[in-house]
Amino acid sequence: MGTENRIAPRESSHAIGFRSVTPEQLERTLTVEGTIPSWLTGTYVVNGPAKFETRERSLSHWFDGFGMLHRFRFDGDRVHYRRRFVESGAYTHARDTETLGYREFATDPSESCFDRAVSLLAPPSVTDNANGPLARYGDRYVVTSESPGAIEFDPETLSTVGQITFEDDLVGQVSCAHPQYDPIADETITFLTRIARQSSYTVVRIADGKREPIASIAVDRPCYMHSFALTPTYVVLVEFPYAMNPFTFRLSDRPFIEQFDWRPERGTRLLVFDRSSGRLLAKPRMDAFFALHHVNAFERPGELLLDLLTYPTPKIVEAFSLDSIRNDRMSIPSGRLRRVRLTIDDWLVSSRTLVASPLEWPQIVGHRRTHPYQFVYGVGKSDPSSFYDRLLKLETTGRTTCWHEPATYPGEPTVVPAPTPASEDDGVVLSLVLDGTDERSFVLVLDGETFTELARVPLDHPIPYPRHGQYYSTDEC
Ligand code: CO
Repeated sequence: MGTENRIAPRESSHAIGFRSVTPEQLERTLTVEGTIPSWLTGTYVVNGPAKFETRERSLSHWFDGFGMLHRFRFDGDRVHYRRRFVESGAYTHARDTETLGYREFATDPSESCFDRAVSLLAPPSVTDNANGPLARYGDRYVVTSESPGAIEFDPETLSTVGQITFEDDLVGQVSCAHPQYDPIADETITFLTRIARQSSYTVVRIADGKREPIASIAVDRPCYMHSFALTPTYVVLVEFPYAMNPFTFRLSDRPFIEQFDWRPERGTRLLVFDRSSGRLLAKPRMDAFFALHHVNAFERPGELLLDLLTYPTPKIVEAFSLDSIRNDRMSIPSGRLRRVRLTIDDWLVSSRTLVASPLEWPQIVGHRRTHPYQFVYGVGKSDPSSFYDRLLKLETTGRTTCWHEPATYPGEPTVVPAPTPASEDDGVVLSLVLDGTDERSFVLVLDGETFTELARVPLDHPIPYPRHGQYYSTDEC
């Protein structure tokens, strides 16, 4: 992530998606161009980094940016827009003091403003900056991150309610960024990584406002895992060989993500847990690869199938450094949809690429999660060196449909099923798209089946490129 010895770069047109937002709060009523289905009356909320520096210094990495929520409430031919920063401790410190007070994903405050000796005695806190997924803990709306404390927000006003804390003795410095809510069991499953003399992963169930461990396993070198696989019967942690040394974690002067080293010789290990008993059923190994996002997992008679977007190495993390992403210093690697198959009787593992098209920010319709499914939506690239410039609908059989408009950059799609869907793809797909030519953003509404445009809702300004979004139907909020 070095920035030395370079000529002043020319920003790419997607770089407007990586500039800080001012003012912090804004409300607008927007006009729908086109026709949206009459049943689309809920609220679309998008979260993503939107402040990339303090007066004192710039942040290094896209994932360091302070999270901002953007709310679009559908109201006939109008949409009510509102935005607000997530008021985490890390954000309010940066806002109020114009300095960094917390260890961010790839930027460490002790590099500049902390006296090194003091910092070693009392390391700065790991960030609570929540710029990632939107989740539900029962009836509470939360934004999550890799930090253990999720932050609750009000989906109408976007005000921060506060950090969610649990009265238990579970310990973990790192949390899975993507907890999974299971509406059938009415519980959220996630996991914590403890980095200590005896490090561990603990799979956790959150229900009725309480958190309880399901399973735990000791590990010598904790690995970086951004998401995991869940089915009705199993929880699988896919442990990529992107590992850290727990003995140097607290005292290291390297930021969080730079403490992980790529160790392909370890291979990728699958930790298969029984979801109800917590028993570790198997831990087969396979070739080394990396992924940020699992797509889905499900069971068929005699087998367990995990679909995820894989890369040969974790280079995508480096490609999301702000210098690289704004100035096209390196191509963003392309993920491929890969299916890992486990036989349930003897836990033999095999895998194959399911669809050749590059894909990231994958989403499927909510009612197919943990079950067999046919369609994945996501963003793709027109060529290896471009930024994400198209929306894709992939069938697990390999067929691909695309939405593309020159110099526009769609964010993660959000799949909204029709109220009584006739098929898996009956509904709409929403995406917040950055228009690099007009320097503004718009919400795009695509028909889920034909993948053609039904409507768009333009803003008069750009919104930073989002990380994750969520749709809440009217009866949810
Ligand atoms: Co993510």
